[in-house]
Amino acid sequence: MVSTKDVQTLVKSKLKGCKFIIVSNREPYIHMHTPDGVKVKTPTGGLTAALDPLMQATGGTWVAGGSGDADREHVDKRNRCPVPIDNPKYILKRVWMSKEEVDKFYFGFSNQTLWPLCHNVFREPSFKKSYWEGYKHSNGLYAKAVRDETRGADKAFIWFHDYHLALTPKMIRSEAPKKQKLVLAHFWHIPWPTWNTFALLPWAKEVLNGMLANDLIGFHLQIYCINFLASVEKVLGAKVDYRTLNVKYGGRTIQVRPFPISVDFGTIDKLAKRPGVRREIKRVRAPQYIPYKYIGVGVDRVDYTKGIIERFRAIDRFLEKYPEFQNKFVFVEAGAPSRTRVPAYMNLNEEIPKVADEINWKYMRGYWKPIIYIEGKLGPDRLFALYRTADVCIVSPLQDGMNLVAKEFIAANVDCTGTLILSKFAGATEELKEAIVVNPYDVEGFADAIKDALEITSKEKRRRMKSLRAIVKRNDVFKWLEDFICVATKLLS
Ligand code: F6P
Repeated sequence: MVSTKDVQTLVKSKLKGCKFIIVSNREPYIHMHTPDGVKVKTPTGGLTAALDPLMQATGGTWVAGGSGDADREHVDKRNRCPVPIDNPKYILKRVWMSKEEVDKFYFGFSNQTLWPLCHNVFREPSFKKSYWEGYKHSNGLYAKAVRDETRGADKAFIWFHDYHLALTPKMIRSEAPKKQKLVLAHFWHIPWPTWNTFALLPWAKEVLNGMLANDLIGFHLQIYCINFLASVEKVLGAKVDYRTLNVKYGGRTIQVRPFPISVDFGTIDKLAKRPGVRREIKRVRAPQYIPYKYIGVGVDRVDYTKGIIERFRAIDRFLEKYPEFQNKFVFVEAGAPSRTRVPAYMNLNEEIPKVADEINWKYMRGYWKPIIYIEGKLGPDRLFALYRTADVCIVSPLQDGMNLVAKEFIAANVDCTGTLILSKFAGATEELKEAIVVNPYDVEGFADAIKDALEITSKEKRRRMKSLRAIVKRNDVFKWLEDFICVATKLLS
């Protein structure tokens, strides 16, 4: 197992004399006004948690969108803020956008055009020109902030994250001084669709041109790399090599590689054994809390790609088809609202509790009801207690680049008493072979899979979970970091 320390040492040695910049839309530290004064929040997403220790060791700059309502009060004239606040180790440089800019860039092109286009789950992407113009403009704001940080540096390694910033690499490369050695790398955290889906985008050429200014482009899976190469070949007529996964374009070679992201297994495993989690487990198991014999759990950002409604429909069918589980099975779903200004997300936030209520009404008996929907994010003790108590965790996205909930559940299931049901359309399915795999659109098969998961013997459950835990432990987030950084920093020499 690679440790945080190993990665920190590796990166430090490889990046000697080189400016290191991470660029993402989400920022690692958010200043927020609260009734008790300004508080600094850290987003709980795996990405910022993984990259923050790395930045703390290397001491570079993280360029990200300012999103907290007290963010502007905590930067200098160059919009920089040393972080972590109590013991600063690196610079967070904030990029400002007005509400109108955020509407077009984040809620518009990023999440109503690229997100549905790349996930391909029968939601029509919006091809509004104003969103595209806003995206270009905001990518330019990020480029300007990065340029401000690389000015005067002989060498810089810039690592972009996600689909919000497809155009920024080209903007930076085309304006870099000739003598500056730049290595640009991009990790795309969502799927890449087949070339003929991607080609629907009226600005497909511009997006690909923007991305090909990178030297290295990472995706979670080989199939996304292949889809990307095919898009480049068909849309731009570039020369691609499906064997080496390299693209030759504009006199440069661009490497396209799979790097499956993961979770911090060691930390989750430790946190899941804390006394607070044990106390919470007792509470969950008390009959007055949730009356159940079997407990299922689902944890998601509320997004139509996560298949939450389809999961509820499968639970409904399961209880209808196998009535012996009525009065015995309880499914706890925790859904954290996100992107709530986008109509599809607004509707989903209303629809989920309605569907849960409809199913609960159908089966409800006395105090028992089959679905408990918790709107919001669970605290770590409650979350890990649920992961440890669950007989089954259902992760059934309609399409997902990787899905870290599946890996988080495995890392937290320290007693090896749970089973994972996983959608065949989650990137994680490629590695997690001992999960029970479902097609979330196949209600009958899904209902049967829930029954199978609940009827698995303890011995078999243990065997499967042990094997899953070994995989996630070996391929944790530090392995992802190490693999990516090793390939990227080779390009510096
Ligand atoms: O899965 C893609 C991704 O952008 C992640 O990198 C991120 O954690 C998640 O979606 C949440 O998205 P948002 O930043 O819109 O809340």
